Amino acid sequence: MSKSPPKKKTNSAIQASTPVSAIARPVSRSKTVMTEMVLPQHTNSLGGVFGGVIMSWIDICGAIAAQRHSGLRVVTASIDYLQFVQPVLSGWTVNLRASVNYVGKTSMEVGVRVDAENPMTGVTFHTASAYLTFVALDEKMRPIPVPPVEPQSEEERRRFAQAKKRREARLRLAGKAN
Ligand SMILES: CC(C)(COP(=O)(O)OP(=O)(O)OC[C@H]1O[C@@H](n2cnc3c(N)ncnc32)[C@H](O)[C@@H]1OP(=O)(O)O)[C@@H](O)C(=O)NCCC(=O)NCCS
Repeated sequence: MSKSPPKKKTNSAIQASTPVSAIARPVSRSKTVMTEMVLPQHTNSLGGVFGGVIMSWIDICGAIAAQRHSGLRVVTASIDYLQFVQPVLSGWTVNLRASVNYVGKTSMEVGVRVDAENPMTGVTFHTASAYLTFVALDEKMRPIPVPPVEPQSEEERRRFAQAKKRREARLRLAGKAN
């Protein structure tokens, strides 16, 4: 009796047999926007926002983006160089935008841009930017693979390529390069 040829897998059958963690997700999935108002408890003795408050907002905004991308719980593994460009005063609005730039295996680089807005004049200016690395963890708090990210626009592809280089430099600095 002759054997019938193996059935060709349909796209939906391939998708069904592919682990969720292997299916790439667009950058848009992780896009996160967060708006805060600078209150007196956020300021330093000069009336400007305390840097640690901005860092905490950056961390939260970045973590939300990483969770949106991965659908997993994440921890902050590192925050790269952070520069405060201009002071932000009490009563002003702070807008944060974050998205996933690059995915390794269990880690993601998220870029966060912070703009401040003077509500009296409507003038908005760039106040800080940061790159953070988040690692996804399983229920036993062990690193777990994250779905790849698929950059689609020219800008997303540029960020992806730059993030890949930053990752190599970052891991070298942390003594974790392969
Ligand atoms: C982040 C953490 C989970 C990494 O654990 P680990 O045992 O070093 O795990 P691994 O060596 O397997 O690395 C896991 C991933 O983290 C990345 N990583 C580890 N240290 C890193 C660092 N300093 N900077 C950036 N990425 C780092 C690795 O590159 C790897 O990513 P990949 O899978 O995409 O290649 C662990 O260090 C940890 O739990 N840190 C505390 C996190 C925390 O509490 N954050 C909140 C602080 S307020």
